[in-house]
Formats: sequence, C-alpha cells, structure tokens
Amino acid sequence: MATEPEPQSVLSPLTSAAIFLVLTVEDGGEQTARELLADLPGLTRAIGFGAPDGRLSCVAGVGSAAWDRLFAFPRPADLHPFTPLEGTRHRAPATPGDLLLHLRATRPDLCFALATEIMKRLRGAVAVQDEVQGFKYLDVRDLLGFVDGTENPVGPAARQAVLVGAEDPEHAGGSYVIVQKYLHDLDAWNALPVEAQERIIGRTKATNIELDADDSHVALNTVTGPDGEEQDILRDNMPFGSPGRGEFGTYFIGYARTPDVTEQMLRNMFLGTSAASHDRILDFSTAVTGTLFYVPSADFLDDLPDAPARGSAVGTAPPPAAGSGPVPAQADAPGPARPASDGSLGIGNLNRSTSS
Ligand code: HEM
Repeated sequence: MATEPEPQSVLSPLTSAAIFLVLTVEDGGEQTARELLADLPGLTRAIGFGAPDGRLSCVAGVGSAAWDRLFAFPRPADLHPFTPLEGTRHRAPATPGDLLLHLRATRPDLCFALATEIMKRLRGAVAVQDEVQGFKYLDVRDLLGFVDGTENPVGPAARQAVLVGAEDPEHAGGSYVIVQKYLHDLDAWNALPVEAQERIIGRTKATNIELDADDSHVALNTVTGPDGEEQDILRDNMPFGSPGRGEFGTYFIGYARTPDVTEQMLRNMFLGTSAASHDRILDFSTAVTGTLFYVPSADFLDDLPDAPARGSAVGTAPPPAAGSGPVPAQADAPGPARPASDGSLGIGNLNRSTSS
C-alpha cells in the first residue's frame, strides 16, 4: 500500500504562543522564497531541538497568485483568492498574501527566534503585509472573555476535516487555510450584560456550556453537508493586542480540507441566514484582513517541484471565486498594497467597518 504523504504540522496541538506572518513575494524574489520553503523544516528543527518541551512548529501556506510563480506543478484544485464579502452591515475584505507562516510554540521566544531567522533569509525578497504575535489568554479565552476552540475536531476526525485526500491525489496531505485579523471594540462589548454576550456567542461565559440559540455565532458556524453531517474546520485563533494603543483583537485561522466549508461559515456570518441577518459578533469585531492559502504536504516541501520557466507564469491564476455578494477581489490585483512607510497595513482606520 502506498504511504500517505506526511502533512505539515497543521494538526499540532494548540499552543500558548504563535506568530502569523503574511508576506508577498517581490518580483525576482521567487527563488529566495522557494529556498526558504525547502529549508523551513530544517530551520524549525534547528531552533526547536534544544527545547523539546517548546513544541516549536511552523506551517507554510502559499497564496493563489504565488503558486504559478513558484512551482511548475498543477495547482491545488481549490486554490483561489479569498472571496471578499459585502453584507448589509459588515464586510470581509480580501487582502494580499503570497506566503503565510504560522509559527507555534509553548514559548513566545521560540516563535520569535524562528521568525527572526526566516525573515533574515527573506529580506529583500518579500514585503511584510502583516505580522501578529498571538498569545493564549487566561484559561484559553479570547479577548471577548469566552473560551475559544472547544468544538475543534480531534484525532482521526481532525485529519478527516483538514487534510486533502483522494479528491486531489497530487495534493493529498495538503490543507487549505483562511486567516482574518479582527479588531474588537471592547468598550462596547464590555458594556453589554453578560447574558447578551452569551446569546451572541451561543455559550455561557463562565462555564462554556452551549446554549440553544439559532442566531448565535456557534449556530451560524455549524455547517452541515449534503447528508446532514457536520462539516468541521480546525481553528487555532489567537488573541493579540496592545493595551497601550488600545488595540484588542482575535487572529482567526481555520484549516480545512476544502475552503468551501470555511467560506460557507463566512457567508453565514457576513451575509446572514434565515435565522439571523448577520453574526452579531461582527457588531463588535471588524475584519481588517482576509487571505486564503494552500498548505502543501511536508513531502512536497522536502522535494519541491521545479520552478517555472521565467515568464511562463503570467495569467495562469484563475479569476476570483464566485460567491454570493462578493466585491471585486483585490488579492491578485497588480501592485498589491505594500506596507505603509509607518509599518502599518496602510489600509486606513482599522477600528470599525460598520456602515451604520
Ligand atoms: C472575532 C472573531 C471570532 C471570535 C472571537 C470567535 C469566537 C468563538 C467562540 C468563543 C466560540 C465557541 C467555542 C468554540 O467552540 O470554539 C466559537 C466557535 C466557533 N467559531 Fe468562532 N470566533 C471568531 C471568528 C470565527 C470565524 C471567522 C469562523 C469561521 C469562518 C469561526 C468559526 C467557528 C466555529 C466553526 C465554531 C464552532 C461551532 C460549533 O460549536 O460547532 N469563528 N468561536
């Protein structure tokens, strides 16, 4: 029997520290990016070896616009740019990203050391679109104060939910990941009575018990397949922020075997369902980024396919995915937003996206 391709460490247990790096590859930076991808497992081992309890890992994802620039190899079947959504009150923007590096460890210093080494190698070859250092907060709570991650699949169910299989044999062992950076209006949230917060989330705050409410965040994100079976994703959300700057956020990251499942959840949240016009978590949380990546298997990184012949990659990426209510995708547009000179994302005021 053929052995299953080894996945990257997408299934590694949740840790207390993470760094999320979203990068775009500069013209001419492709070879350096390829070398980094090939060296990543070795770099991670080198830095993590001396601290085995630190469980250092790094998952690399490749964005739609970058695939044909980096590899002369068939595209993963479901790789496309993030589909932006325009709801009646809230929007999910698409933002640029050619590479995602998701670093995890039980110690922030290990993530920091590996990120430093990675960026040293990539300097000049990439532009940093976003960097977030996340931490586990209290007893695994988000900054809204609720326990986050309870309903994640585990064991064989997690593998089944997250890893590409026979449906795309050339990419078996891979995964799709969507990231979004949310900023919270904590003053407004904390002004709500706890019972109102619990109805919005769909779980009790102190005891984390699920409530029966078909318009809650939990209900809107309970997605079923054609046979009524639940469709899971694997989340490793991380709080981040800066009390000094009054910034409080959740970095959403969801791995799945097909991006369809996460995209359905996002449509439920932003465009609504028969039970709710939108997810009320969004009245207090603004999505300021949104990018989709494909995570190749570890075997793929071990033995990278050839680079495309120069000039052959132009125009091979598909158009943005169709979705209900999307606005034009910007992720693959020429000349993606480069970081502003102040080091910010350069996309203006990130505090609120509500139009009313
Ligand atoms: C502001 C950002 C977000 C926050 C603070 C947040 C927080 C939470 C919390 C507290 C829960 C309940 C406990 C749990 O099962 O984890 C939950 C559940 C869940 N969330 Fe989120 N979430 C956010 C964004 C998202 C997004 C963007 C998606 C999907 C696209 C998502 C998908 C889910 C799913 C699938 C569940 C489990 C539902 C079930 O019980 O089956 N979340 N989230």
